[in-house]
Amino acid sequence: MIIIDSVADLRRLLAREEKFGTGFVPTMGALHRGHLSLVEQSSLDNTRTIVSIFVNPTQFNDTSDLEKYPRDLKTDLSMLSNILSDKDIVFTPNYNDLYSSEAEFSLDLMGLDQVMEGSHRPGHFEGVVRVVKLLFEAVRPEKAYFGQKDFQQLTIIKKMVKELNMDIEIIACPILREASGLAMSSRNERLSANIRSLASIIHSTLKEYCKVKSANELTSISHRIKDSINSVSPFLVEYFEIVDNISLKSVSSVSDIKPGRQYYGCIAVYAEEVRLIDNVEFSFEFVKG
Ligand code: PAJ
Repeated sequence: MIIIDSVADLRRLLAREEKFGTGFVPTMGALHRGHLSLVEQSSLDNTRTIVSIFVNPTQFNDTSDLEKYPRDLKTDLSMLSNILSDKDIVFTPNYNDLYSSEAEFSLDLMGLDQVMEGSHRPGHFEGVVRVVKLLFEAVRPEKAYFGQKDFQQLTIIKKMVKELNMDIEIIACPILREASGLAMSSRNERLSANIRSLASIIHSTLKEYCKVKSANELTSISHRIKDSINSVSPFLVEYFEIVDNISLKSVSSVSDIKPGRQYYGCIAVYAEEVRLIDNVEFSFEFVKG
């Protein structure tokens, strides 16, 4: 694999070989098997895969979270070298280089960035959109791979590509989980062994409630899920919402359900100071069509 650390060098190399079908996997490093599953999918689908590793400061609304973000480029490169081939690229830009080419743009996300993660992490998605746009402009992929784990991010990136007329296909990849069911995340490393094993309660509770059987059940589901997780110390649910995959509008009664949409129960949970997110597809068994 080739390691490139500047936008200009990347552009020069790609300009020489425009004919490659490029798949792109943007990451912030601290790679685990969840990230690697995206890289593997891209390698299967494309002639060339480009993986970026860049801890993007503009998407952190909390500076201590940014400082604590794990960085281990050497290990990341060694993990990637097991998957990537000679023509694949790992792109490791620095802040000034990447952001110096930023042009002003306006994008109406129609409130997608104001709910769930957006309402608890103000400015987060603005930063994600800025960096992904810059990375897309540098890499110019045909396909880009995002994890379903960050469901709201995925929805927003799909919207961005559509609104900005970017000719990039966004591929959603399934959530990779630990054996316990806990969604893989670099943050899991910050949990003690005991809390990490108890954290399986998040996924098991979502699975327990994901087939909603009656309108009555729907009205009380949010309370029941929160109560069930909050009853296990030290977990504290920050939000739980069932939303569709286009508008991210919250469903709390039958009249909110639109036929033909997919629905996901999305949750953020604090385990002491570590914030975990997850989601599971929800279905309404009592609604026809
Ligand atoms: P990061 O958190 O490093 O995640 C990179 C990609 O890996 C995202 O698309 C994320 O959804 C996916 N991913 C993480 N855990 C996963 C899991 N358990 N299973 C499947 N996929 C998983 O998301 C970001 O970085 C940044 O916001 C970024 C898009 C790179 C912009 O800075």
